[in-house]
Amino acid sequence: MCGIIGYLGYRNAYPILIEGLKKLEYRGYDSSGISVFFKNGYNLYKSKGKISELENKIYSSGIIIKGNTGIGHTRWATHGSTDDINAHPHVSNSNDLVMIHNGIIENYHAIKIILLNNGFTFKSKTDTEVLVNLIEYIKSENKLSLEEAVRISLNEVIGAYSIAIVDKSNPETIIIAKLGSPITIGVGNKEFFIASDPIPFAQYTKNVIYLRDGEMAILRKNKNLDLRKIINNNKLNPIIKKLKINLKEIEKGEYKHFMLKEIYDQPKTILDTLRGRLLISSNEKTIHISGIESNKEKFINAKSITIIACGTSWHSGLIGEYLLEKFTRIPVEVEYASEFRYRDPIIGKKDIIIAISQSGETADTLSALKLAKSKGAFIFGICNIAGSSIARNVDAGAYTHAGPEIGVASTKAFTGQITVLMLMALKIGIYKSTIDNKLYKRLCKELNNIPYKISKVLKIHNYIKKISKIYCEENNFLYLGRGINFPVALEGALKLKEVSYIHAEGFPAAEMKHGPIALIDDNMPVIVIAPIKGFYEKIVSNIQEIKARKGKIIAIINEGDVQVNMLADHVIKIPSTHEYLCPLITVIPLQLLAYQIACIRGENVDQPRNLAKSVTVE
Ligand code: G6P
Repeated sequence: MCGIIGYLGYRNAYPILIEGLKKLEYRGYDSSGISVFFKNGYNLYKSKGKISELENKIYSSGIIIKGNTGIGHTRWATHGSTDDINAHPHVSNSNDLVMIHNGIIENYHAIKIILLNNGFTFKSKTDTEVLVNLIEYIKSENKLSLEEAVRISLNEVIGAYSIAIVDKSNPETIIIAKLGSPITIGVGNKEFFIASDPIPFAQYTKNVIYLRDGEMAILRKNKNLDLRKIINNNKLNPIIKKLKINLKEIEKGEYKHFMLKEIYDQPKTILDTLRGRLLISSNEKTIHISGIESNKEKFINAKSITIIACGTSWHSGLIGEYLLEKFTRIPVEVEYASEFRYRDPIIGKKDIIIAISQSGETADTLSALKLAKSKGAFIFGICNIAGSSIARNVDAGAYTHAGPEIGVASTKAFTGQITVLMLMALKIGIYKSTIDNKLYKRLCKELNNIPYKISKVLKIHNYIKKISKIYCEENNFLYLGRGINFPVALEGALKLKEVSYIHAEGFPAAEMKHGPIALIDDNMPVIVIAPIKGFYEKIVSNIQEIKARKGKIIAIINEGDVQVNMLADHVIKIPSTHEYLCPLITVIPLQLLAYQIACIRGENVDQPRNLAKSVTVE
């Protein structure tokens, strides 16, 4: 979703902004813009489409952009279509104030009417142009400094925002503020960077401040950062954290796309998720998961667990439901965060909420967890991004340690989340004695083998390429699975939809006869997840039903399978594992299939149309 970048210091801001915007591309966007300031003026360029289109526009203008202060933005349209006018930065009526914004101002319409009645005019359809003019109005009416006008205006606003604003008469100051949407500050030597996440400035500085909700910062050239509370202007002490990013992790290296790299990363990322948490020796199998250990009683006495998440993280939540219920005997519900937050859920002090989010910034998940918190529930987070908003708002949690995930379609974060959920289920199961010790040891041992088994699946990539060529022109796909592989069917279908734009639906295989079977004819490819452990005979019957209606079957089967091997049109053979660890293996060929089909169709795999990596608006 929208990306914010900014620079204030001694370097030429323009290349930092452009390179920074490129590093934010992965968040998803449809237009971009920059503004660079010089004494009493600024250059401002915006363009719909890719950042390269913005660069071309600037290049063909013949203007050499110079200045040590600048702000830039990638926009993911909310208010108004994707065009040059609605792109950010937005400028106030006097042309003095220039602002970029991520988020949604919900009461923008009421504010706009007041401003229209006071003679203001608007070029764009955006809520951002309304906010920058509100700031201008309050500033000029009350003869206030920019920081005070920003502060007072933000106290009038309902919604979510992270903003950066510059006054052309004072280009040595940038003011930023946050509520809901993310913004971070990189603190260098006599320079500041701002960005939606630290990736764009990681090469310049590892000192980062994560602005918290309700805070604003005034960045002045050659001065210390001034951090304040928006509500009352109270001064705050900035907390500088050390960034732990390996710059190699945000490069594609030998891979054509980030998505492919991230699929291939999985043997390593799962090892990273397990590192220090799963300790295996010949007779001891121990799980350490500090967020559970330090809240042991909460988990032992939990009345229920509700998992809240969106998208792929919701699918891993569904898998978590199977794992947690099976091994801890605590009732588990999985909710779309966006629905949970609006339906007055019945939860209290004895209930546990698990919020799952790769980015840790998903607005719906964040709001849902805040609601649960206000009702007294204990909140546990499973996030990939350290220091993210969700990570900071939970009572305890466990990071997935999958490293930066740049491809918009989530892959390695998904398997990292399942791994954490499995560790949690086993640990709580042991605490509650709801898991048999022998089974616990077997699962620990097998969990440790998963990275190796995933490496084996990755070796059949070429074969999956061949299957992809056969099916790449289809317009519809069905994905079927049973038990713990049902959410994998949903995830497989989602991956295909996201990157190839082919219509795909996932179903529990037995549900097929209650509706989807009407779709089956010789034009309908059906992907069936059919490992030997878990409902095998029943899946065989479902396959027979599809065959009887001439559907084409691509089956994910275990090496050594005979029956499905004979029935299916194509089979993808994967190593077998324990039924409850299956999703970590069965999802890999589905990720590769989605990736390959999208590549053959020539789609933009890493930045699919309309999608955003981090959805920071409701
Ligand atoms: C967006 C992304 C999905 C992701 C979902 C939830 O829609 O495109 O890939 O699964 O958000 O994101 P989260 O960061 O909360 O896991």
